[in-house]
Amino acid sequence: MEKLNINSMIKSNQDVLVPRFGLGVWKSKPKECYSAVISALKAGYRHIDTAAIYGNESEVGDAIRDSGIPRSEIFLVTKLWNADQGYDSALKAIDRSLSNLKTDYVDMYLIHFPVADKRKDSWRALQKIQSDKKTKAIGVSNYMIWHLEELINETEVLPAMNQVEYHPFLNNNELLSFCNSKGIILEAYSPLAHGQKLNDPKVSELAKKYNKSNAQILIRWSLQKGMVVIPKSANPERIVQNADVYDFEINAADMVSMESWDEGLRTCWDPTTVE
Ligand code: A2P
Repeated sequence: MEKLNINSMIKSNQDVLVPRFGLGVWKSKPKECYSAVISALKAGYRHIDTAAIYGNESEVGDAIRDSGIPRSEIFLVTKLWNADQGYDSALKAIDRSLSNLKTDYVDMYLIHFPVADKRKDSWRALQKIQSDKKTKAIGVSNYMIWHLEELINETEVLPAMNQVEYHPFLNNNELLSFCNSKGIILEAYSPLAHGQKLNDPKVSELAKKYNKSNAQILIRWSLQKGMVVIPKSANPERIVQNADVYDFEINAADMVSMESWDEGLRTCWDPTTVE
């Protein structure tokens, strides 16, 4: 296996390099979000994932500006919220996000959720946003295989990324293989099952074996599965801890046994009911 580090990148089908590891800020309250992003950038993170609906784009933008790190060295992702889906409203929504983020482009703009009657128009808008250079790459989030197939049948621009909930307790190998076969990067959100499985005895056993924390086992698993991963923490020590996953490797036998942990656990919303 390639030797991973915090700067490891993966190339998207839109020719954009995506850092394999980043900070998620879902549920980070505005004030704590500012310090979380500052702590993460100090700890070497170069990929920050926010969304209009999180209500913290402004603090993400402040932190990036105040960090002193050149904007070009940070991979910044935001998302089009459901209420803003549709062609014209999406074009307005990106301008609001850019203004909040205090930047003139993001690196990746994602459709946050496959809203049934709007997602096709939203995708057309994202292509315009990309050609206007307001984002380097465009992608989707919470798309299941049939949403991706619909999009692929209709468009010449394949999504660069599909960001979905993914962890050993929600291990959708079919979706992962589908994305891999199309060069769509699968990005795992809530890789810690939103904190709900951190004390699972199976995780604890491996943590003990590898002398790492339970969170580190789950993060390392996502990386070894070939995904991009964005654990959320607002706590400075845990932000540092979550990035310290490059000095060990889960062996092949343990990776195989972790495949049996899947229990279809969704800790966030469920896109499988959206046609
Ligand atoms: P906190 O922000 O207080 O650190 P996910 O990324 O799967 O959605 O998980 C996020 C949840 O996991 C948050 O509640 C976060 O709390 C918690 N968390 C993040 N990193 C760690 C860690 N290293 N150890 C324990 N809990 C963590």
